[in-house]
Amino acid sequence: MSITQPRRSEPASAPVPVTFQTLQEKKQTGRPISALTAYDYATARLVDEAGIDLILVGDSLAQVVLGYDNTLPVTVDEMLHHTRAVRRAVRRAIVAADMPWGSYHLGVNEGVANAIRFVKEAGAQAVKVEGGESRAELVERLTAAEIPVIGHLGLTPQSIHRMGGYKVQGKTPAAIGALLHDAHTLESAGAVLLVLEGMPREVAARITLEVGIPTIGIGAGPECDGQILVFHDLVNLSFTQPAKFVRQYGDAAALFRSAIDSYRRDVEARSFPSDAESYHLPKDVAARLEAPATPARP
Ligand code: KIV
Repeated sequence: MSITQPRRSEPASAPVPVTFQTLQEKKQTGRPISALTAYDYATARLVDEAGIDLILVGDSLAQVVLGYDNTLPVTVDEMLHHTRAVRRAVRRAIVAADMPWGSYHLGVNEGVANAIRFVKEAGAQAVKVEGGESRAELVERLTAAEIPVIGHLGLTPQSIHRMGGYKVQGKTPAAIGALLHDAHTLESAGAVLLVLEGMPREVAARITLEVGIPTIGIGAGPECDGQILVFHDLVNLSFTQPAKFVRQYGDAAALFRSAIDSYRRDVEARSFPSDAESYHLPKDVAARLEAPATPARP
């Protein structure tokens, strides 16, 4: 940021904030819900100003921002740090934070205590937890503590080792039955939203039809009440082969590469900065600087 630019240019008028009631109404009236991840001030601002309904500070930041191989290493403190940055940027969308692996697996009390940190210290309006029936008590306790909870079913990346990799879930009658049971259990426990990841569209469609709360799909087909993607996948900043369900809407990597290359070439050719990009002395001071120095008296 330049020292001559103000910190923040405010939009003309304050937008009407999205609430979970807004999302519920969207489901009831068949209007799709848009969601994206974001992890920092600049991208969260762009996502919010584009009118996306829900911004998830996903633990996918472990991979796309911090360079880890999977989501398991990211800590509560790292997630809080990024959630605060997103919170400072967002005026309209709901800001939800992902509870990282290990922050709710030791017991319900610890899970509630960590979720409270996301609300109190980072301004999150909701938390997301992965898993079905085994999270029911946690979802109930968080709901009782006034924290809206987003469930996450299907391909749950925090279960990578148990699943034996990132594999589409819910392909057998038994697995479909278990997913439906989990979806109903989370809804009964008080979850306000369900993320459905990596499952056949027919299964996501059935869950969407059966539960009263909105479903947000990622690799779960078009029948979900809304869709979410990882921001870095959307704009080609993930440095991995995109999954089948990713649609790339832009090529930020190409844009950044070209800008960085041009900058390096200009610096090496001394064509940056130009005179117009330089600060100048007032004329009288410049003249004194340029005048030959008076010889010192003996
Ligand atoms: O961490 C994440 O980004 C997620 C979304 C992809 C749903 O959990």
